[in-house]
Amino acid sequence: MSTTRTLLALAALAPAVFSAPLASRQAPSGVPAYVLTYAPIVYLDSSDPYFPSDIGAQLSHTQPEVNFATVSGAPNPLTLNNLNTLNNLGGTNVYLTSKDDISKNPSWLNGVKPDASGKTNGAVSCAIIVNDHGSGLVDAFYMYFYAFNYGGDYFSFIIGDHVGDWEHNMIRFQNGMPQAIWYSQHANGEAFTYATVQKSGVRPIVFSANGSHANYAITGTHDHTIPNVNLPEGPVEDHTDKGSMWDPTLSAYYYSYNAGSNTFAAYDSSTPVNWLYFNGHWGDQQYPNSDPRQTTIFGISGTQKYQGGPTGPEDKQLNRTNVCPDNGDTCIVRTILGP
Ligand SMILES: *[C@@H]1O[C@H](CO)[C@@H](O)[C@H](O)[C@H]1NC(C)=O
Ligand SMILES: *[C@@H]1O[C@H](CO)[C@@H](O)[C@H](O)[C@H]1NC(C)=O
Repeated sequence: MSTTRTLLALAALAPAVFSAPLASRQAPSGVPAYVLTYAPIVYLDSSDPYFPSDIGAQLSHTQPEVNFATVSGAPNPLTLNNLNTLNNLGGTNVYLTSKDDISKNPSWLNGVKPDASGKTNGAVSCAIIVNDHGSGLVDAFYMYFYAFNYGGDYFSFIIGDHVGDWEHNMIRFQNGMPQAIWYSQHANGEAFTYATVQKSGVRPIVFSANGSHANYAITGTHDHTIPNVNLPEGPVEDHTDKGSMWDPTLSAYYYSYNAGSNTFAAYDSSTPVNWLYFNGHWGDQQYPNSDPRQTTIFGISGTQKYQGGPTGPEDKQLNRTNVCPDNGDTCIVRTILGP
């Protein structure tokens, strides 16, 4: 038997060892192997009903609005190939606004629960973006999409729900070896050395918080009242545990990013690219306090139940000097696990 036939025969005998990990990773050719080998494994919180969601499906459940008025002249249907045309029709003021009343919890907000292999079947819920800085330095962004962010319950008020939720990890590689990993959390996040974080095999483990989908390196509670100060307890807590396993690479779009020209390229011709240039928001604009669905704590700004939807991957500082985004703070790359 030829080597190939021997391998095929062995593969038939031991599908779990041979074909499963290869067959199920459907990355197009050209994606650096280490971007897959060391990709994060995400554990969703066991009580979170809001799973990762199909990026394109968000367009069919929403319509573009500016100041709560429908954008006229927008392509119909909106697709991942034409979404960027909204940049000339309002740009950063455009909000992809739910066609359904969000307060009635339409089922599409719940996304798609990963199957036993960790795949969100029928839902492309991740965009993997590779920025090759040259000299062996490569940053891979794993952008996670959820249709809905549940803000959380504070003193019996819900604060911070929004349609659309983009979160991410970034892994910095040097010569194909992972060095450090960024975990996005609310407006900021935490960085750790690769050696520090828990792993599944060689893949970093990430815990996605209930509702907010902030990414943490450990399970438990995480207070984020004070930006950049991570404490196990406090008034504004996230919660993570080892619920469903999500392997974002199994249903993802793959791109390279050229910082010099600020352009994206797909690794294959069937992957839509233009949506990455859309600079508007992936969910409803914050409802005014006069909207009967809106609540606040004594009208205090920032305590609204429903807040505005987020901007997309292009707004996450894709060309970084450090593994952290540059927000004026020192980039602390932690060597001890913590909340
Ligand atoms: C998780 O969030 C849901 C609302 O989406 C809430 O009902 C549940 O109590 C939360 N779980 C925990 C452990 O706080
Ligand atoms: C991208 O980041 C690198 C630092 O890694 C910097 O030298 C370069 O000037 C940046 N490019 C652009 C276009 O900002």
